[in-house]
Amino acid sequence: MKNVLVIGSTGQIGSELTLKLRSIYNGNIVAGYIPGAEPKGELLETGPSAVVDITNAKQIAETISKYEIDTIYNLAALLSAVAEAKPQLAWKIGMDGLFNVLEVARESGCAVFTPSSIGVFGSNSPKDNTPQDTIRNPKTMYGVTKVSGELLSDYYFTRFGVDTRSVRFPGLISYVTPPGGGTTDYAVDIYYSAVKGETFECPIAAGTFMDMMYMPDALRAAIEIMEADASKFVHRNSFNVTAMSFDPEIITANIRKYIPELKVDYKVDPLRQAIADSWPNSLDDTCAREEWGWKPEYDLDRMTQDMITKLKERLV
Ligand code: SER
Repeated sequence: MKNVLVIGSTGQIGSELTLKLRSIYNGNIVAGYIPGAEPKGELLETGPSAVVDITNAKQIAETISKYEIDTIYNLAALLSAVAEAKPQLAWKIGMDGLFNVLEVARESGCAVFTPSSIGVFGSNSPKDNTPQDTIRNPKTMYGVTKVSGELLSDYYFTRFGVDTRSVRFPGLISYVTPPGGGTTDYAVDIYYSAVKGETFECPIAAGTFMDMMYMPDALRAAIEIMEADASKFVHRNSFNVTAMSFDPEIITANIRKYIPELKVDYKVDPLRQAIADSWPNSLDDTCAREEWGWKPEYDLDRMTQDMITKLKERLV
C-alpha cells in the first residue's frame, strides 16, 4: 500500500482509518467524501481529499488515476437499522457502489478492502461460536448486501484476479465519530450517557449478546489484512473477527465499576431487537487468527477504561 483512496472517509470507520493510514504511509492517502459530508480539521489538513460518490464510477476512476491509487478502502454503507428504512438506497450504495469499485479496480489493478459484518448471519446460522463457513441467511437488506458483496468480491478475485479482502466486523465502539443507524450503536451510546451523567435508554433487551470490538483493533484488522501475505489465505471475503461478546447488562456492570451512578432504562426498539436476535451471540474467528495472525488487544474492561478517559476529555 502506497497510495490509498478511502471512500466514505468521514464516516464512523473512515474518519479514524484515514488518519491512521496517513500516520503509517508516505504516499497519497485520499479522503473520499460526498458533498454534505466534507472532511474537516485534521482530516482535511493532513492530506488530499476528493469528492468520490461511490455510485459514480467515473468519479472513482478519475481519482484513482489522478493520485495513482493502488488500494481502495470501500467504506460507504448504510448501517443495519437505517438500511431497513431505506432498502433501495442501501442496495444502491452497498451493491451498485461495490460493483463500481470492483470494476475500477479490475481496470486499474487496485486492491480492495470492503468491510463485511456479523449482519451476514441470520436465524439459521449457529448462534454460539458461529463458524467462518456456515449458513448465511440474513433477512435484513444490510445483511443481503453484505453477503452479496462477499460473493461478488470473491468472484472478482477468482475470475479477474482483483485482490479483494474483507473482514466481518462486529459492532464497533469508538469515542471519535458516532455510528448512525446501526443495531450495535447502543454499546457506543451507553458510554456517552455514562460520562454525561444521563440515564441511558437501552434499545436492546438484557440478555441479547452480540460481538463487539474497540475501534483501534478494528483499524488494525483493516490494515493488517491488506498487508498480509495472501499465500496463506484460504478465505478472502470475508473473515470472522471479534474481540468480545457481551449483553447490555454486562457492559452496564463494567461501566459501573468506574461510574457507579450510571442508570439504565430499557426501552426496546422492536426493529433493532429483531435484527440483534437474528445475529450471532459470539463469532469463531480462528480462521483470521490462523491465516493472517489476527489478534485483538482490547477486552471489555480495557476498552471501558479508555472510552471513559477519552470521552471525559472530550465532553466534560
Ligand atoms: N454495527 C453494524 C450495525 O449495527 C453491524 O455491522 O449495523
